[in-house]
Amino acid sequence: MKKVDLDQTFGKQEVDPSERKKLIRRVFSKVAPRYDLMNDAMSFGIHRLWKSKLAKLANPQAKQVIIDLAGGTGDIAIKMSGENRSVFIADPSIEMMQAGQQRHALPCIATTGEQLSFADNSADTITIAFGVRNMTQMTQALAEMYRVLKPGGRILCLEFSKPQKWLKPFYDWHSYHIIPRLGAWVARQPEAYTYLIESIRRFPDQKEMQGIMQDTGFVDVTYQNVSFGIACIHIGTKPAE
Ligand SMILES: C[S@@+](CC[C@H](N)C(=O)[O-])C[C@H]1O[C@@H](n2cnc3c(N)ncnc32)[C@H](O)[C@@H]1O
Repeated sequence: MKKVDLDQTFGKQEVDPSERKKLIRRVFSKVAPRYDLMNDAMSFGIHRLWKSKLAKLANPQAKQVIIDLAGGTGDIAIKMSGENRSVFIADPSIEMMQAGQQRHALPCIATTGEQLSFADNSADTITIAFGVRNMTQMTQALAEMYRVLKPGGRILCLEFSKPQKWLKPFYDWHSYHIIPRLGAWVARQPEAYTYLIESIRRFPDQKEMQGIMQDTGFVDVTYQNVSFGIACIHIGTKPAE
């Protein structure tokens, strides 16, 4: 399995982690009111299909405790909610969680992925969509998710990944020409969407992410590409005791 140097991947030398953390917080507090609209505009609505697939694979069941980490405005948590189960949205951005509260009444917990405010072995499932890329210490956040999951519990992580080669010209054109313009017109935050593109480009590809999850201790680590690898759903299990 190909290993990846996370410090290099996330450019530890380029941006101080505490500065990066502040930048990420600012980005999400600014984009929160227009976040959902911008997602539809950028992805032509396709993010909804990816999220539905993630929620379906999570296979929520009665009596389960499910955490949607980096849950933001609640798209995934809403899809997983239902009677007789506990679904929590966990996110450090109050603004993002507030923006979603017009659409749901699910419990929201202000917490970072790197220091989760949940007890050991307390969750059956943790989902995280387009969130792990924003964590300044991704390995620590994955270790925290591992800690919080019950033995046999699963993490399902939807994240941008490396698309198939034939798609690259269109993908690059969309990333460098369309998204920054949409960021300016729709979200009114062009810098926020420049950050988005940079963070996607730096993120580990499918196989690298699989190795990182295995290194954390997860077993049966698999992935499923969506939209030809533009995004990918990574799944891992905390070993049963
Ligand atoms: C791109 S949004 C994704 C929101 C939602 N999961 C979705 O797919 O629509 C990223 C989210 O990650 C959150 N976030 C940023 N840094 C984080 C951290 N260190 N730990 C947990 N969440 C974080 C942001 O506040 C934001 O809500």
